Amino acid sequence: MSKDALVSEELANKFSTEKDRDTPYQRWVRDQGLEIISALYVQNLRTVEVKPWARRGGKGVYINHDASRTSNDCYVCEIPAGKKLEPQRQLFEEMILVLEGRGSTSVWNDAGQRLTFEWKAGSMFAIPINAWHQHFNGSGQEVVRFVAVTNGPSVMNLYDDPSFVFNTTYDFKGRFNGEPDYFSPKTEPKGFLLPTNFVPDAVNLPLITAKERGAGGGHIRFNMAKGSMSSHISQFPVGTYKKAHAHGPSAHVIILSGEGYSLMWPEGEEPRRYEWQVGSLIVPPNKWFHQHFNSSPTPARYLAFKHEVALIRNSQGVPTAWISRRVGGEQIDYADEDPKIRSTFTDALGKHGLAPRMEDAYKKELEDLPPKAA
Ligand SMILES: [Fe+2]
Repeated sequence: MSKDALVSEELANKFSTEKDRDTPYQRWVRDQGLEIISALYVQNLRTVEVKPWARRGGKGVYINHDASRTSNDCYVCEIPAGKKLEPQRQLFEEMILVLEGRGSTSVWNDAGQRLTFEWKAGSMFAIPINAWHQHFNGSGQEVVRFVAVTNGPSVMNLYDDPSFVFNTTYDFKGRFNGEPDYFSPKTEPKGFLLPTNFVPDAVNLPLITAKERGAGGGHIRFNMAKGSMSSHISQFPVGTYKKAHAHGPSAHVIILSGEGYSLMWPEGEEPRRYEWQVGSLIVPPNKWFHQHFNSSPTPARYLAFKHEVALIRNSQGVPTAWISRRVGGEQIDYADEDPKIRSTFTDALGKHGLAPRMEDAYKKELEDLPPKAA
C-alpha cells in the first residue's frame, strides 16, 4: 500500500470487528501451540527461537507477512539430532530451503510410488501438493533447521477444516507420479527458468546474467513441483546494488551469501534500513519499494520464495517490477533514485575499505533509458 492510508477513527471503528477477527489459519497455528511472528524482517532464521511442535515431531515458529491471510506464510522448523518428523500430506504447496544440517526426505503417494533424496544446508526443493512426505535428520549430533514457504493460509481459510486439508486421500498425478528423476538436480535452464524440483546447493548454483535488474547481476528462476508458487535466486557483484522496485506481497527474501542491507519504503516515505547477513529474511510488504545493497567484499546472493500475488505482469507477460517507472512499470531507474541512496551505499562500503562499482551500470542504463514523462 502506498503511504499509510490512515483514515478517521470513526471509519476505522466500522471495520474493527473484521480487523480483529482471527482467521481459521491463525486459529490452526495457535492450536498447535506455536507462535506467529508478524515480521517484515528476521535478522537470522538460523537463530530465531523455535518451540516444541507436537504435530510435526520437531520444533517450529511461524512467520507471517502483512497480507498472509490471502496468500502465503513461512515457518522455520528444527529436527532434533537423530530424529525425524512425522509423515504428512497437505492440500497446499510448500517450498523448502535447508538452513543447517543434513538429512533426507521421502515423498510418496497412495499409488505406492516412493522417492527418497538427500540434502544438506543450502539445498532447496518443493513438496508436490498432497504428496506424502517425511523429513529425516541424517546426523546423530547436529540439528537440522529448514525454512519453508507455503500457500497454506488461503487453503486453511477457504476450507476451515484441518482434517480435510491433511487427510484427503487423492493423488494429484499431474503434479507427482513417482517419476524416477523427479528430485534429480537438473542443470539446463530454459530462458531464466531452471526446470528442476531439487537444487542441491543454492549457494553455488550457476546463474544467468540479468542486466535488466541493474549492475550485472546473475539470476535464475524456479517453478518447483509444478506448483503455483515460484522462486528465484539473484546475485550481485562486489560494490553493486540493485534497482528499487515494488510488487504485490508475499516474497520471502533469504540471504544465501554476502553481507549488506535492504531499504524498504512505502511510496512517499523515507526508506527504512534492514541489515542482512547469511540467514536474514526480508519480506517486502505489499507495494513497498525495496532495494538490496551488497556492501561485503564478496558477491551477495539471495533466494526469494514467492506466491503468485507478488507478480503483476504487463500484457507481454513481463513482471512490472522489471519495467521502468518511466513507462508505467514499478522499477526505479538509477537515474531517478534519491541521491541519498548513493551516499549511504558509499558509506556502507567504506566501512569495509571498498568503493562503489556502479559507474558502468549507471552509464549502460542511460543508453536505452526511456525519456522522462513531462
Ligand atoms: Fe522484489
